[in-house]
Amino acid sequence: MLRVAVVGSGPSGLYTAQSLVQREPGVLVDVLDRLPCPYGLVRYGVAPDHEKIKSLQNTLRPVLEHDRVRFLGGVRVGSGGVPTTRLRELYHAVVYCVGAAADRHLGVPGEELPGSWSATEFVSWYSAHPDAADDGFLRGVRSAVVVGVGNVAVDVARILARRAAELRPTDMPQAALTALAASGVDEIHVVGRRGPSQARFTTKELRELGGLPDTEAVVEEAELALDPAYGDPSRLAAAQRRNVEVLRDWATAPSRGARRRIRLRFFLRPVELLDVDGRVGAVRFERTAPDAHGGVTGTGRYRDVEAQLVLRSVGYRGVPLEGLPFDRARGTVPHLAGRVLRDGAVAPGEYVAGWIKRGPTGVIGTNRPCAKETATSLLEDAPVLARRELPGEPLGLLRAAGAEPVGWAGWLAIERAEAELGASLGRGVVKLPDWAALRTAVGPAGAGAEEPSAGSGER
Ligand SMILES: Cc1cc2nc3c(=O)[nH]c(=O)nc-3n(C[C@H](O)[C@H](O)[C@H](O)COP(=O)(O)OP(=O)(O)OC[C@H]3O[C@@H](n4cnc5c(N)ncnc54)[C@H](O)[C@@H]3O)c2cc1C
Ligand SMILES: NC(=O)c1ccc[n+]([C@@H]2O[C@H](COP(=O)([O-])OP(=O)(O)OC[C@H]3O[C@@H](n4cnc5c(N)ncnc54)[C@H](OP(=O)(O)O)[C@@H]3O)[C@@H](O)[C@H]2O)c1
Repeated sequence: MLRVAVVGSGPSGLYTAQSLVQREPGVLVDVLDRLPCPYGLVRYGVAPDHEKIKSLQNTLRPVLEHDRVRFLGGVRVGSGGVPTTRLRELYHAVVYCVGAAADRHLGVPGEELPGSWSATEFVSWYSAHPDAADDGFLRGVRSAVVVGVGNVAVDVARILARRAAELRPTDMPQAALTALAASGVDEIHVVGRRGPSQARFTTKELRELGGLPDTEAVVEEAELALDPAYGDPSRLAAAQRRNVEVLRDWATAPSRGARRRIRLRFFLRPVELLDVDGRVGAVRFERTAPDAHGGVTGTGRYRDVEAQLVLRSVGYRGVPLEGLPFDRARGTVPHLAGRVLRDGAVAPGEYVAGWIKRGPTGVIGTNRPCAKETATSLLEDAPVLARRELPGEPLGLLRAAGAEPVGWAGWLAIERAEAELGASLGRGVVKLPDWAALRTAVGPAGAGAEEPSAGSGER
C-alpha cells in the first residue's frame, strides 16, 4: 500500500484525497489539519448566509468517511508541530494543501490603528474560527469602509448589512449574531482603486447586494463614467459587462430611502487611515484615473470618507511552511504539475495543491482540477515512492512526535455539540466559538483518537 499524508482538509486537500483513493485502490490517505474541524475555508470562509455553498461540506464529507481515508485533526505541520522532515519519513508521499491564510497589507499610514482590520480577521470572527478574537469590531461604528472590490469585500459588506432575522438561521456564533443585531452601521462604502470594469467580484454576488432588506446599493454615475469602457460596454468581456450593467442600473435608480446604504465606489486609492481620538475615524483616498493600460494613476485630488471601521479586503497570501521551499514574490510553493521543486529540481514525494500551489484565487470548484493534476503526478511517481520501507504505522509515530490527533469521532462530537448549542439557543446548528469549547466537545482523551476515521478500524 502507498501511504499518503494530505496536509489540510480544505477543498484542495479533500479533492486530492478523493482523486487518489478513487483512482488507485492501493492508496491509504491520512488527512491532517491543524484544526479539529475539517473543510478549511468552506467552514471558516464561505459566508454563513450562503447556505447552499456552505452545504458543500456535506458533499465533501464522504471523502473523509471513505474506508481508505482517515481524518487526523488537531495536527499542525511545520513550526510548533510535526516537522515536515518527520512527516516525509512517515509517509511515502506528502501533499501540502495548506491554503493561503494570511492577509495582504495596504502599506499606508494608519493601517494599524484600532478599528482597522483585515477582512480575514472579520470573516474569522463571524465564522467562529478558534483563532479569531472578539475585538468589538462594531462598537460605536456608524460608517464602515471596505477596501477592495473582490468577492470577499462583497461578503463582508453584505454581512454588515444583514439584519438579525436573516442571520439567525445561519450557523454564525452567538456573540457575532448578537453584535451584528445591535450594530448601528448604516453606511458601508466598498471602494475600488480601479474602475468598475476591473472589479473582481462576480455578478451573482454583486447583484445580491441590491436585494437586501432595509438596504440599498448606491453608485455614483460620475464614477462609472470615468471608466473608458462605460460608454462602450461592447469592449468588455461578458462577466465585466454584466457587472457594469448592474452598477449602471443602481446608479440611475431613484433612492428607496432604505435604512442602510452600501455605496460602491471606484477610482479611489487609499493613502492614509486618519486618527480620530486614537482610533480610525476616516480613510483618505486619492482620486485615480485610468492610465490606458488597465492600471490607474493618481490625480493629486483627495477626499476623506468617514469610517469607524475599516476592513482591508485586498486579497490573501500564502504563509511559508518550515521545511518547504517558498516563492516569496508569489506567496506559493514552487512546483511542476504539483510536484514540489527545490532549487528548481523535483523533490521526490512532496506535492502541493490548492491556494498554496496556485495563489489565493479561484472558487471551491477550481481546486478540483488543480488537485487532480497533483494526484496524477503523485500516482505516476507511486511505483518508485512505494519502494521505500516506512518506519511503521504513522499514527503512533505522529503521537511520538508530539501530535495529539483528533479523529473522526472527535469531529462528530463537535458536530453534536454544535447541534445541541443551537437547540439550547432556539436556533439551528450554531458553531462553537473557541478552542476551549472545541476541546470540551472532543473530550479529555481526544474522542476517537484511538479509532481515528470512519472506516479505518481494520488498518
Ligand atoms: C472569505 C472567503 C470566502 C470564500 N467564499 C467562497 C464561496 O462562497 N464560494 C466559493 O466557491 N469559493 C469561496 N472562497 C474560495 C475558496 O474558499 C477557496 O478556493 C478554497 O477554500 C481554497 O482551498 P484550499 O484547500 O487551498 O485552502 P483552505 O480552504 O484554506 O484549506 C487549508 C486547510 O489547511 C489547514 N492548514 C493550514 N496550515 C496548516 C498546517 N501548518 N498544518 C496543518 N493544517 C494546516 C487549514 O486549517 C485549512 O483547513 C472563499 C474564500 C475566502 C477567503
Ligand atoms: N462567492 C464566491 O464565489 C466567493 C466569495 C469569496 C471569495 N471568493 C474567491 O476567493 C478569492 C479571493 O477573493 P478576494 O476578494 O480576497 O480577492 P480578489 O478577488 O483578488 O480581490 C482583491 C481586491 O483587492 C484590491 N486590492 C489589492 N491590493 C490593493 C491595494 N493595495 N489597495 C486597494 N485595493 C487593492 C484588488 O484591486 P485590483 O484589481 O486593482 O488589484 C481587488 O479589487 C477570489 O478568487 C474570489 O472569487 C469567492
